[in-house]
Order: sequence, then C-alpha cells, then structure tokens
Amino acid sequence: MNILILGSGGREHTLAWKLSQSKALTSLFVAPGNAGTAKIAKNRPIGVNDFDNIKKLVFAESIDMVVVGPEDPLVNGVHDFFLNDAQLQHVAVIGPQKAAATLEGSKEFAKEFMMRHGIPTAAYQSFTSNNLGEGYAFLESLQPPYVLKADGLAAGKGVLILNDIEEAKAELKKMLVDGKFGSASATVVIEEFLSGIELSVFVLTDGTGYKVLPTAKDYKRIGEGDTGLNTGGMGAISPVPFADTGFMNKVHERIVKPTVEGLKKDNLPYKGFIFIGLIKVGDDPKVIEYNVRMGDPETEVVIPRIKNDLVTLLKATADGTLDETELKVDNRTAATVMLVSGGYPGSYEKGKQLTGSESITDSLVFHAGTILKDNQVVTNGGRVMAITSFGDNFKEALEISYANAEKVHFDRMNYRKDIGFDL
Ligand code: AMP
Ligand code: GLY
Repeated sequence: MNILILGSGGREHTLAWKLSQSKALTSLFVAPGNAGTAKIAKNRPIGVNDFDNIKKLVFAESIDMVVVGPEDPLVNGVHDFFLNDAQLQHVAVIGPQKAAATLEGSKEFAKEFMMRHGIPTAAYQSFTSNNLGEGYAFLESLQPPYVLKADGLAAGKGVLILNDIEEAKAELKKMLVDGKFGSASATVVIEEFLSGIELSVFVLTDGTGYKVLPTAKDYKRIGEGDTGLNTGGMGAISPVPFADTGFMNKVHERIVKPTVEGLKKDNLPYKGFIFIGLIKVGDDPKVIEYNVRMGDPETEVVIPRIKNDLVTLLKATADGTLDETELKVDNRTAATVMLVSGGYPGSYEKGKQLTGSESITDSLVFHAGTILKDNQVVTNGGRVMAITSFGDNFKEALEISYANAEKVHFDRMNYRKDIGFDL
C-alpha cells in the first residue's frame, strides 16, 4: 500500500513513524513534512490545501490512501474533492467529509449537534451583529467568567474568557462588528463557564463502528503552572490518571456513542479520527469542543501506545470493518515534552541549527517545526520537537523525556518543566 500523509508537525511525524512499521506499507509520502519525516518517508513540497498538486502526486506515486493530519484541508473539503473526482474515488481518505468537518469548522454547528443528540455540554446562545443587544443581555444574565467563542476557525485564538462584564461586552462588539477574527467571528457563541479539569478522548470511526483510543491530557499554556499565552500544546500525557473506568463508562455512554450515532442520523459521513475535548465537572464529563483530527501533541503519546498495525487499522476504517478489529493498547504511560523556539507563541526566529537529538536512544524523538537545510536540521516553527518516553507512571516517563531534552540544543530553546503538575 502506498500512503500519503498531509501535514508537517509532530503529529504527522508520529503517524509516519507508526505507519512505517507496517509490513502492509510499500511507500510512504508526506506533504510537506519536516526533517523528521524526511528520514522515514519521502517529503514532497506541496501545501495541505493545494488539492490540484496533491492530485498530481497521488497519480504519480499510485497512492492508495491519504491520511489527513490538520483540520484545514478537511474543513476545505479535501475528502469531498477525492470523492467527486472519478479518477480519485478509489483512493481512501482518512478524515471526515466537509459537512462533518463542520463540527470543528463551526462552534455553533457543533453546539446544535450536541443539543440535537443530548450530548452534555455548556449552555450557550449564539449571536451575530444583527442581535448584538441580545448578546449584551445574555452576558448580563450569566455569572462571570464569560466565555466568548468565534464560530469559525481562528487558529486556536478564537476563545476569550473574561472576568469583567464591560470587557466581555466590548470584546463581543469587537468580534461581531469590528471583525476581530475576520469572518470567523461573524457569529459568536457565548457559553456558560464550566469549572473542572480537562482531558481529551480520541475516537477512530468508520461511520458505524468505532474504537475509543487512549485518553490524553495536553498542556496548552506557554508558562509553568498553566500561565501565559495559549500555544498549540507544550506537552501531553497518556493515559489520564483520573479518567478511571467509571468515568470512561460515562464518556462512552453519554458522549462517544451518541456522537457516532448522531453523525449517522444526521447523514454526516465520517471515516477518521474524532478528538473530543472534555471537561470533568464534578464526576461528569461535558464536551468543550470537537476536533475532526488527532491532537498535537496528543498524537505523540496516544499513537505510540497503540499496539495494532496502523495501516491495518486505517484500512479497516476506510473499508468499514473497524468493528471486526480488536484494539490493543500498551498499559504503560507515555509522556511528551515539546521543545519550542524562544519567543513562541509570540514572534520567534527560525533557521536555528538543531543538534543533539541523534544521541537520544531511550525516548522517541518526533520532529515538529524542523527542516533540512544543507543536510542540517534547522528550526522552522514555534513548536520544534517532541520527546516522548514511556514509564510505569507519568513521573517516570517525564523524567526520561526531561533528561533527553537536555541533550538537544538550539539557540533560545524553551520548554515547560512542569508537565503533569496538576495531576
Ligand atoms: P476551545 O477552542 O473550544 O477548545 O476552547 C479553548 C479553551 O478554552 C479550552 O481548552 C478550555 O480551556 C477553555 N474553555 C472553552 N470553553 C469553556 C467553557 N465553557 N468553560 C470553561 N472553559 C472553557
Ligand atoms: N493540542 C490541541 C490540539 O491539537 O488542538
């Protein structure tokens, strides 16, 4: 089987690493990829939204399956692009069609989906510039903090949590009237604030059958103690210690099952990963958001714990035979630490020479923002490299990752030293 992965982050390097272990794999391509994927697959300099050049590559290399890493091409309809082209229809695409990808592409759509199918989530109302006054009145009916969400994709920046009512009203106006997040904030969802601890549950579905993959918890803030700006994710742990059997039974019955059944009832074809962002309120799970892909850096801890052959698992997803497959999971804990560029998530420099990662033997090294330049690895993004280790618990796993982080060098390298601090 010839497989193409779309994307260039740590998630895609991890998927490439896992797929490349399969006997069922013939050739593996990554577009555009990074310095890590270059070592185990063939990188091609094609953007994830460049559907015409993706099509050319699929023909040229007789690709049988496309695994879509990020949300953007899914929300832009890459799966539909394949289905609507007679010459591409035979290629399996892992990732939902555009209609189902709206679960991530529109917060309002996701909230309506949850309401329709009785899936627990925060109470909400949505507003446009036509009913700004009603938006102010709704804010006044709530207790602080106020949660404002741009409806559309806003590169992870579209959620504001504010303590002051006047500030909340001003921000609502900026989003709706002044286009703070462009067209993404033409509609704003205002939500009840939920207080609890967050975790993520990942599901692989073929549209009918599904497998609940290992849980993970990521650390989104740049600063220790969960302070400072939001990032794409600074580290992750799997499994999540507090997600015990009782809690996971609730997640399964109240959230995962109605989600997969709801997709089917609503005629939203879905073959791929569902990432459910959850918050544990008291002892009960509630959905914060859906993403229509794997998480990053959650992939770097979830995928290494899966013992199954990933080509076989994804083939079953494409063929609609997931129910016949048994998922096997490594009982150990995996933890990852993300090494980032100094200044990230604000402005930072790229092109810094990276050394030392080759000497790491007892962790998995997943490249994120790296590129090969004159055969040297140099930095090419804010999040540069994830170091994943196994242990009997997350502390043991982290100890190994932190020891190995010390071996990696690039100018102004930064990482959080307190992953798992809240567990
Ligand atoms: P989202 O992009 O929807 O995941 O929101 C980003 C972050 O905002 C989440 O990871 C939560 O930490 C926080 N958040 C979102 N919605 C709520 C809510 N209703 N109550 C409390 N925190 C929230
Ligand atoms: N780590 C969060 C995400 O992938 O959206």
